[in-house]
Amino acid sequence: VIEEEEKLCQETKELILSLPREKGWRTSYLYLFQGFWCQLKEIEAIHSFQKHFQAKDSDVLVATVPKSGTTWLKALTFAIVNRQHCSSFNKNHPLLTSNPHDLVPFFEYTVYGRHDKVPNLSNMCEPRIFGTHIPFASLPDSIKESNCKIIYICRNPFDTFVSSWFFVNKIKPKSLPTLALEEAFEMYCKGIVGFGPFWTHMLGYWKESIDRPNKVLFLKYENLKEDLNSHLKRVAEFLNCPFTLKEESDGVIENIIKVCSFETMKELEINKSGTFGRNFENRFLFRKGEIGDWVNYLSPSMVEKLSKVIEEKLGGSGLSF
Ligand code: A3P
Repeated sequence: VIEEEEKLCQETKELILSLPREKGWRTSYLYLFQGFWCQLKEIEAIHSFQKHFQAKDSDVLVATVPKSGTTWLKALTFAIVNRQHCSSFNKNHPLLTSNPHDLVPFFEYTVYGRHDKVPNLSNMCEPRIFGTHIPFASLPDSIKESNCKIIYICRNPFDTFVSSWFFVNKIKPKSLPTLALEEAFEMYCKGIVGFGPFWTHMLGYWKESIDRPNKVLFLKYENLKEDLNSHLKRVAEFLNCPFTLKEESDGVIENIIKVCSFETMKELEINKSGTFGRNFENRFLFRKGEIGDWVNYLSPSMVEKLSKVIEEKLGGSGLSF
């Protein structure tokens, strides 16, 4: 932590001293910043993002709960938005040679991740597509007030938890011991997980999607798995670029589904051998991609406990899993 802290600017150092903190999943601590839990290095990036980012009406944001299908939704959104340039998926499609996180950069890691430098975003192709795990309440006003669009995805908390637990143990520094399932589970149920509590995260975007359905499109991983075709049509309509009948009969939607499928993406060289910066290997982003894998890991008492948390926190909101 001392090493991490030394790299921070004075303003952030003073701020973090005032924040509640808990043991992290793969870092010494998670800090409660603006009502959500995050890592030290994320705080500075988020701060810079909030201070500097100027949204354009044409921007598209892919906002997600970590381990809920971020990689998939980024790929799908990129493919939909850029389909004029690459209607038939040949070898040159960017998604076949780049990981979706490189095509749709995260505000809090890639875009504002370097605290010595405010990025120049003016030369990005429009529409610009960004990704974020930041809760709705903490997005800068320019995003909330502009006409830019937000596509949100979350996933049933049981699978999200199991996916997070596997991922963290794969990417944690080797010097740290394996994080036990039971310990992670207790933290998850208390809401102590990156960008959590998960219920606050979901409810923030859920409420906004009800109040402003043209601003926020709320999706669930399970629904996409069950009927991707109709969800891609919804996404395209939401982004004001609906598929034409000709595109539909030409198989454009099917092509998008195929190039973004778990099976295709997992086998791409970039996703087998590439890395996300110096943070982790891309292959860790593709585990099983199934609904309901949690049954293989959670005990009956864990299921009961998390079900109660979900009922208590989401009950009455209209959001269920
Ligand atoms: P599992 O760990 O359950 O397999 P994120 O992209 O937000 O980090 O989410 C990761 C989860 O999405 C992982 O779930 C991963 O396997 C799954 N996933 C990755 N790519 C996918 C794709 N193209 N289609 C469906 N699921 C995908």
